[in-house]
Amino acid sequence: MAQNLNSRKNFRAAKQARKLREITEKLKEEIRARQAAQKAVVTSETRYRWLFDNIPMGIALCRVLLDDEGNFIDNEYLDVNLSGRKYHGKNLAGMRTKDVFPDISDEIREEFAKVALTGHPLTKEVYSQKLNEWGRMWAYSLGNRQFVVITQKITEQKKYEEELVRLERLNLVGELAAGIGHEIRNPLTTVRGYLQMFQRNDQFKEYHNQLNTIIEELDRANDIITDFLSLAKNKHVQLKPGNINDTIRALYPLLKAEAFLSGHEVQTDIGDIPRICYDDKEIRQLILNLVRNGFEAMDSGGTLTIKTYYYNNKVILDIQDKGPGIPKEVLDKLGTPFVTTKENGTGLGLSVCYRIAERNNANIEVNSSLKGTTLSVIFKALETIE
Ligand SMILES: Nc1ncnc2c1ncn2[C@@H]1O[C@H](COP(=O)(O)OP(=O)(O)OP(=O)(O)O)[C@@H](O)[C@H]1O
Ligand SMILES: [Mg+2]
Repeated sequence: MAQNLNSRKNFRAAKQARKLREITEKLKEEIRARQAAQKAVVTSETRYRWLFDNIPMGIALCRVLLDDEGNFIDNEYLDVNLSGRKYHGKNLAGMRTKDVFPDISDEIREEFAKVALTGHPLTKEVYSQKLNEWGRMWAYSLGNRQFVVITQKITEQKKYEEELVRLERLNLVGELAAGIGHEIRNPLTTVRGYLQMFQRNDQFKEYHNQLNTIIEELDRANDIITDFLSLAKNKHVQLKPGNINDTIRALYPLLKAEAFLSGHEVQTDIGDIPRICYDDKEIRQLILNLVRNGFEAMDSGGTLTIKTYYYNNKVILDIQDKGPGIPKEVLDKLGTPFVTTKENGTGLGLSVCYRIAERNNANIEVNSSLKGTTLSVIFKALETIE
């Protein structure tokens, strides 16, 4: 009887143990499944984080901040990817856009907020003075007063677009120049001839000074037309191999005399450079125009430097002054004919330089700050040097 009871107990215990094992197995299986799911989530999260961070565009998640009455206060960064952080050197999470970009207007800030509030996406090109960069921005609503902004840097592209517009303007003016210039010059020559005749005539002796002034002014008008004509695209140039240092040395006495007359100093920093293909007469004109601008920009006693050097298969000619820099409104239109800030300027000097550079297969780059301006004329070198 006792034996019977024992065997029944054993049987029940064995049954419970089996059940327990089954439950444990099930539990283990579930834990394994959950771990696998968690791992998948982490992998996916890592993958998306990697994508988010390494996409070569700035991505920012933002939240709209409203006051109790629902008025717009600002947008707050929730997260910024690595590409975006590179601009600022830190994560902007928790910061307000006004603190990060004080140079961007409240209207633009609000425009972005509206994306989250209305759900309508926005594409906008924005310039930041602080970063000195142009960005094309796409903003999409994430709901919940949140939005995402994707930013692509388009500063280079903007530069090319502006360059294209400038070249088109130059082209138009060049064509006009070629057409009208000659026609005006001919009557001027006739008038000048008659004036010279009157000057020699005793009958007009008492007007001698006035006649002189009229002739001088006519000559000035003629000089302007000469400049204007040299804007013509198809002007004939004689490109010959040579060393630009020779041109600078030949021009130096004239530059020194001009420096003396305007109360400045001119110095040269001539480097070891290979030959380039250029038109000596044209490049003299270009140097003169740039040097004169430099002199005119500086208070008396300033030093202007003409420098040549070789870099990366290019010969570079720098004209550096220590003036107050080119005004922003001029900088945007640099090289456009008749843009001048000078009382007696015609605003043709730089247009002529750009045209000369184009004809001599060179580029002009401008670097201007409150401490001075450097105009670099970049030529293709004919030879390479070590
Ligand atoms: N080195 C410089 N520093 C500061 N501003 C400059 C410099 N070079 C040019 N600028 C600005 O660019 C404008 C245009 O220059 P540009 O040489 O074309 O004409 P201009 O000097 O005014 O007249 P001109 O026809 O007699 O040369 C100038 O009026 C000046 O405002
Ligand atoms: Mg000038």
